[in-house]
Amino acid sequence: MKRAIPRHIGIIMDGNGRWAEMRGLPRFEGHKRGVERAREIIDAAGTVGVDAVSLYAFSIENWKRPEDEIKVIMGLLESTLKNQLESFMNGGVRFRVIGNRERLSPNIREIIELTEQATAANRRLTAQFAISYGGRDEIIRAVKRALRERLDPERLDDALFSDLLDTAGIPDPDLIIRTSGEQRISNFLTWQSAYAEFFFTDTLWPDFTPEEFLEAIHDFQMRDRRFGKVKGGVR
Ligand code: IPE
Ligand code: IPE
Ligand code: MG
Repeated sequence: MKRAIPRHIGIIMDGNGRWAEMRGLPRFEGHKRGVERAREIIDAAGTVGVDAVSLYAFSIENWKRPEDEIKVIMGLLESTLKNQLESFMNGGVRFRVIGNRERLSPNIREIIELTEQATAANRRLTAQFAISYGGRDEIIRAVKRALRERLDPERLDDALFSDLLDTAGIPDPDLIIRTSGEQRISNFLTWQSAYAEFFFTDTLWPDFTPEEFLEAIHDFQMRDRRFGKVKGGVR
């Protein structure tokens, strides 16, 4: 039986700091190298035929890090987005950001919006960057919106609630990969991961390769997803 490719893969790109520290380098070097890996994985995802990837780049809890490190990460995000537009266009990549934008600086917000608008019609792959993102924060913002818009409680169901989230229109992740040996979700896609399969690897994000990405997909294809039912099914 031909096993389905996951439609949506979430990736918790963890271990940049440890990668650098192990080499006696500043943490910044790990983040820089991590950006390169993210580029390669987006390419690989497009080639494999995944519809969407979500990359956890900066959590809402990461705002609690030292100011210097936050500055470095934000600077990298900004320069990466500026450099990346052409390759998103060439690769048919639709860029989106999920997360709490209010906390981002106006110049980053602006470059995010420009990139989202410029790539909105691209169809090959959606690359969703989780920036200033927390699953609980996303849920609370959705609930606030429902209350503000006086949504009829009788109409509320899974599908309608999903449409209130930042990920509206993107199917739930089939597979979530986390690098660096940590086995936790750290507030990533809290609502959406209800039936995701998980792939944990000890590899630190700056060492994560397209080959290992394919290995994770292969591992996913061997799983029996039951969704609470009795009979086996792929998706
Ligand atoms: C992941 O790497 C990137 C971000 C959270 C921004 P870390 O910076 O968490 O690296 P470790 O976990 O300290 O090694
Ligand atoms: C999760 O990594 C967030 C990102 C990868 C962007 P963290 O390094 O912040 O998570 P914890 O603190 O180990 O749970
Ligand atoms: Mg970490």
